[in-house]
Amino acid sequence: MNNVLLTGGTGYIGSHTCLILLKQGFKVIVLDSCISSSSKSLEGVKKVFGKDWDSFSDKLQFIKGDINNFGLLKQLFQENILLGEPIDGVIHFAGLKSVKDSIIKPIEYWESNVMGTINLIKVMNLFSCYKIIFSSSATIYGINKGEKIKETSDISPVNPYGSTKATVERLLQDTYLSDKSKWSIMKLRYFNPIGAHASGLIGESPLQSPNNIFPLLMDVAAGRKKELKIFGNDWDTFDGTCIRDYVHVMDLAEAHVKSFEYLFSTEPACISINIGTGKGTSVLELINVFKKVNLVDIKFSFTSRRKGDLSCVVADNSKAKEVLGWNPTRNLSDMCRDGWKWKKSNPYGYK
Ligand code: NAD
Ligand code: UFG
Repeated sequence: MNNVLLTGGTGYIGSHTCLILLKQGFKVIVLDSCISSSSKSLEGVKKVFGKDWDSFSDKLQFIKGDINNFGLLKQLFQENILLGEPIDGVIHFAGLKSVKDSIIKPIEYWESNVMGTINLIKVMNLFSCYKIIFSSSATIYGINKGEKIKETSDISPVNPYGSTKATVERLLQDTYLSDKSKWSIMKLRYFNPIGAHASGLIGESPLQSPNNIFPLLMDVAAGRKKELKIFGNDWDTFDGTCIRDYVHVMDLAEAHVKSFEYLFSTEPACISINIGTGKGTSVLELINVFKKVNLVDIKFSFTSRRKGDLSCVVADNSKAKEVLGWNPTRNLSDMCRDGWKWKKSNPYGYK
């Protein structure tokens, strides 16, 4: 197996995974509409290779296009078969990811995340490509009692974005059940990815205004925002602020390589796996580590709770360790240092 299609591969997690796959010797085809990213991220990937890029340049192809374009997807699979290099597997990152926007524009979310995936599965089936890794999310889990979340915990999303992710998981399960001898499906449930590649050459560069804490926090550190508004200091946690499981984007990217190794060495299956560190960090702790590691100030104030937030979301990651042999190796200081290196060198992202 060496020819991989990355839908959404110019995005934040996709570009970091693209880099690792190339380094591991994969041939990578990136398909992205660039609705929320820039293809300049792939220039960043090239820069990481530096003068060695020449020996990799034929291993990366970028196609600008939408996963809802059935004809384009068909052509892509067909062309690679004609070249004698059929696509062996797909990592499906493409999708819209803002919880807030999904409440305002649910149809766009269902269209991109659910209909787009149906389209992709139809074309994969047509060309007998049966291996797929899907970007799912911890957001599909319902309210928890503060304990670590297992893959068997209740699925009960509370916003349209979460509903689309849970629906795709169901769709993939049904696809697998339709012929258990065919499909190998990995649904990775990401917790809170942050940070950047240690080079500072690639990182998160959202086109829309961010709602997530890490890009907002870096905007404050960079002086582009006056202060960070912390959503509540009256939560049932040790310091009153919400707890999340932050995971370094490079550790997350590595989980995809491990997943491919698994899918290509075992019998067909459909598996869900949490990708988090298993360590909870409060908002105040995150701010303090960021300040300490990077020697910068972060101004903040408390405001009321954000609707739909949960007090504590931390992964039980034992399945990732057992099944994939995946062990995150980067800690919160690494996440803060690497994220800030990217932001300092690229205050406006890829723009
Ligand atoms: P991102 O927005 O940076 O990347 C998503 C990419 O998909 C973008 O490049 C966008 O242009 C592309 N895209 C969107 N709709 C498309 C379409 N219809 N056709 C083709 N391309 C399309 O987001 P990310 O953080 O890299 O997330 C990648 C995946 O992981 C997403 O599916 C997201 O829902 C999921 N996820 C992200 C997080 C997170 O906090 N970043 C957490 C859990 C799950
Ligand atoms: N927070 C603030 N102020 C902000 C933004 C966030 O205090 O301006 C707090 C939130 O209340 C929360 C924590 O920071 O406690 C993290 O919030 P994020 O918005 O960064 O992340 P969420 O955990 O709410 O959700 C994220 C993604 C989802 C994904 C989920 C996976 O937005 O898409 O992680 O667990 F599904």
